[in-house]
Amino acid sequence: MNNMFINTGYKNILPFVRLGVLILPILLLLYSCQEKRSETDRKIDELMSKMTLDEKIGQMTQICFSTITHDGTKSLKLHPDSFRSAVINHHVGSFLSGTGSAREWIVFINEMQKIAVEESRLGIPLLIGIDHIHGANYVNEGTFLPHNLTLSCSFDTLLVSKCAEITAIETIGLGINWNFSPVLDLGKNPYWPRLYETYGEDPLVCGKLGSAYIKTMQKINIKNYSRLAACGKHFIGYSDPKSGWDRTPAEIPGQILYEQHIVPFEMGIDAGVESIMINSGEVNGIPVHTSKQLLTHVLQKQLGFEGIIITDIKDIMKVVEMHSGAKNEKEATLMAIEAGVDVSMACNSYDFIRYVRELIKEGNITEERIDHSVKKVLKLKYKLGLFEQTYMKEHYDTVYRKQTHLQIAQKAAGESIVLLKNTGILPLKDFNGTILLTGFASNSKRLLNGSWTLEWQGAEERRQPRDMYTLKTALAEEFPGSQIIHFINDTITTDKKRQFRAMARQCDVIVVTAGEELYSEFKGNIPNLKLDKTQQDWLKMTINADKPVVLILIEGRPRIITGLEKDMKAIIFAGYPGVMGANAIAGILSGRINPSGKLSFTYPRHVHHNVPYYHKISEEYIPLYPFGHGLSYSTFKYNHLQMNDTLIKHKREKIDVSVEVSNTGSIEGKETVLWYISDLTGRITRPVKKLAHFEKKHIKPGEKVLFNFTIIPEQHLTYPNRHGNKILENGKFVLRVGPYEKCFVMDLEDTSTY
Ligand code: GLC
Repeated sequence: MNNMFINTGYKNILPFVRLGVLILPILLLLYSCQEKRSETDRKIDELMSKMTLDEKIGQMTQICFSTITHDGTKSLKLHPDSFRSAVINHHVGSFLSGTGSAREWIVFINEMQKIAVEESRLGIPLLIGIDHIHGANYVNEGTFLPHNLTLSCSFDTLLVSKCAEITAIETIGLGINWNFSPVLDLGKNPYWPRLYETYGEDPLVCGKLGSAYIKTMQKINIKNYSRLAACGKHFIGYSDPKSGWDRTPAEIPGQILYEQHIVPFEMGIDAGVESIMINSGEVNGIPVHTSKQLLTHVLQKQLGFEGIIITDIKDIMKVVEMHSGAKNEKEATLMAIEAGVDVSMACNSYDFIRYVRELIKEGNITEERIDHSVKKVLKLKYKLGLFEQTYMKEHYDTVYRKQTHLQIAQKAAGESIVLLKNTGILPLKDFNGTILLTGFASNSKRLLNGSWTLEWQGAEERRQPRDMYTLKTALAEEFPGSQIIHFINDTITTDKKRQFRAMARQCDVIVVTAGEELYSEFKGNIPNLKLDKTQQDWLKMTINADKPVVLILIEGRPRIITGLEKDMKAIIFAGYPGVMGANAIAGILSGRINPSGKLSFTYPRHVHHNVPYYHKISEEYIPLYPFGHGLSYSTFKYNHLQMNDTLIKHKREKIDVSVEVSNTGSIEGKETVLWYISDLTGRITRPVKKLAHFEKKHIKPGEKVLFNFTIIPEQHLTYPNRHGNKILENGKFVLRVGPYEKCFVMDLEDTSTY
């Protein structure tokens, strides 16, 4: 009996023993995390109990380097007296924005941290912010990656993660611990001068790529260095101003805000982004910096964001100066704090500190409200390891794997650049003829790196990386058996045209670049999306030379080329492809790289026809090149679309779908499969289709590869109302992938919203 009982009993408890062995480590880990978190909370509470009111408000203030450098610029030479005034007298807790060599960065930040930690009363280390939005773009030795609009055409989250990783490595090594990136705004307005900073027009692409960037950037942990916080920006509705011009009013209905603009931020918050920067502009008449609805109700309560909410540069002051949204800066400060601002990027003024102190003394702001923000700032400093790793070791080069990073930069450009048109002239395989190269970016480095490179508006040629290729040098290396004739284009005169025609007679193919000069933010406002006249005339001249012309577009947004496009034998969109951009373009021209980029935005046909692919059925979508368009040197065939069901009767049901893609070409390539879902009817009118999933895979010649996707009603078949509540409606849907369109129905008994 006993034995049997023991045997039986033993057998009964064995599953529980197994379960215990499995979950015990998880419980221990959770306990230790909880312990660590509460230990940090204890440290924060203890530190805050010692802080004066001014010391607390100082932690909510961010000052530009230009206020504390010897020459009042971003150059990395400290003005000790100005800096001590900022940190010792005003108790400022964070600084931003400089440019220089890696060594200058390390010395500069170590000097700042040393004074802050060893000379201030409480020795709180500093947050140091930068805009490393396309690699470590403010470091002379940085790896300047393709700007996001180009990179997003890769549709490759792993590639974006690799880019985030090398950006983080090259940033952390300098002692910088806060990166104002990624932009999570939607690139849906082709006029907007910051389009090239976005991941394109689609909410899912922006959210997926932005989340991949955030997760990778924030998890990089290098021994002896602090970690790096990312910053999703610019919350919310910044990228679709009515006029297309930067920081001008946007009128965005709540339903569109939720269905389009908020999606990437929601995904970024789910990815754990540590900070969010606010849109400088106004949405529906309210400056976002003073909108409690957006910054507290939506961002913190609805989306659950618990990180730092930071203003954009001088934006509390701009509530008065730009928007006339408050009678003076003190009132604007009150409105911003009440709305939910935690840190003011005050840049070159200490007024914020004074106003907050006065507002507290007058009882308009409670110290408890200030403590809410200060706790967030201190929590981030602990989380990044700043109290343990305050100073950077000066052997930066040990973490700086330059060649590996450059290979990633070329891969990023090569897999993002989009082949828009090819009549068969490309690739120029084993080409040994004569190439006539011309165009504004044909021998430029700065135009390939784009703005936000060493300088806000992009640095001059002499400051660009010495060993970087231009298109001219890259073509010479890519086509060793060819002659490259470079025709400098500046002004077009009759004589120039004659010279050009004479040269063209000697060549076999003309490669011409066209697009845009560099600009950042409002400096890129334009009244007309057409190429400027000089560039148009230049392209016409190449067309009139009666030789095949290959057009390379170097631009931050899709400038109109309709009318010229039909005479081009091939067209490549490179955007701002970065430090290895020329090498990647040359590789695509020669066939060394098989292009796999697809447009993450709509390329308009007409100047004022800005309709994204997710337009309404009553709108005409007549782009020059549609969202998702991109050619390859391989050919891919979609076969066997499978759906395990075409009827959904219960909310929890899902539909598994798959499609097989074969490479029917002769060379290996990568294909991005875009899964769209169309909701055929809706009380709130529905877009003709919405991207529901995307995936990119490598496929060898003759290989068949399966792409899978699961339709989840709550995630893929609902849409938000103007309050952000998910609406679920029965009805017909269409799944679209490649050449396939397949109908399925949702017919639920209970369609109450989620
Ligand atoms: C700029 C930009 C913002 C950037 C900030 C700090 O005005 O709007 O994207 O992060 O200032 O440089």
